[in-house]
Amino acid sequence: MAQQIEKVGVLGAGLMGHGIAQVAAQAGYQVVVREVDEAALKRGIGRIEKQLARAVEKGKSTQEEADAVRGRIQGTIDYRDLADCDLVIEAITESLQAKLEMWKELNEIIKPEAVFATNTSSLAVIDQAAVSGRPSRFVGLHYFNPAQVMKLVEVVRCVTTSDEAFATAMEFARSEGKLAIPTKDKAGFIVNRLLVPYLLDAVRAYEEGVGSVGEIDEAMKAGAGHPMGPLTLADFVGLDTLGSICDVMFDEFRERRFARPPTLRKMLSAGWFGRKSGMGFYDYSGETPTENPGI
Ligand code: 3HC
Repeated sequence: MAQQIEKVGVLGAGLMGHGIAQVAAQAGYQVVVREVDEAALKRGIGRIEKQLARAVEKGKSTQEEADAVRGRIQGTIDYRDLADCDLVIEAITESLQAKLEMWKELNEIIKPEAVFATNTSSLAVIDQAAVSGRPSRFVGLHYFNPAQVMKLVEVVRCVTTSDEAFATAMEFARSEGKLAIPTKDKAGFIVNRLLVPYLLDAVRAYEEGVGSVGEIDEAMKAGAGHPMGPLTLADFVGLDTLGSICDVMFDEFRERRFARPPTLRKMLSAGWFGRKSGMGFYDYSGETPTENPGI
């Protein structure tokens, strides 16, 4: 039996968190989104407001609907504002240490019957569940970027997850209009298990001179029907995020297909994190992206 969810807490209003908060508010939930400081919170809420305004401009929603969605979202920098949430989803940086410290603190504040969920891309859910103080009410809810658009949510059951918490998470994702697919607690779950080696192989293909950045991307779009080529997608996901995910997966499986290609390692040293930093496989400083001549 699924638990009743009315109020949802979202930790982090970055690339994923702002979208997760928006989707929950659009589905009618009261949402509290927490960031580390006012500036980060303002950026995250600003992103949501921009997306809501775009939907009105395009005639996909009315101004009243957009205002109602915005009205259901409260921003905060204080964990205590999440105390009475029924479900808390974390979308902070992909660092196990940071997540563990956060859950320990939150467990003291948030009502004991609330379900905790991690949006981790690759870390084992059980490692977070074990320190959360509520291992039976801990799940993975893995959204895809952009969360407002991508249909899938992977619902991850770890060894301690109760039937009730799992049913609650499945039901919640479906109530947002998402396709909820259950997966086991294995690094990368379903999508990243397949997608990450593909993206890394695209980098290796570039290193081997199979094609230029643009040629590899255009080939996969036109030849395989993908909406974005793999190097554009790597920039879109964030090269830092891709680097963290592949490190976790390499650690877990010890297979070359999950290893960081040298080009990715060097780009990260240069601070080229993809679209978010303005530079990745493409340079985003102009009107349209152009291939980065520095790689
Ligand atoms: N928020 C809300 N809506 C957005 C959006 C955003 N950030 N970005 C795009 N959209 C909407 C647009 O408003 C538009 O809506 P409309 O068709 O109703 O007008 C629609 O999406 C299409 O957008 P555009 O016309 O601007 O551009 P595209 O047709 O190129 O689509 C895209 C953009 C949806 C991002 C598409 O290129 C795509 O699907 N790319 C692949 C994305 C992908 O693979 N994501 C998964 C990454 S892996 C991941 O997230 C897992 C993690 O663990 C790493």
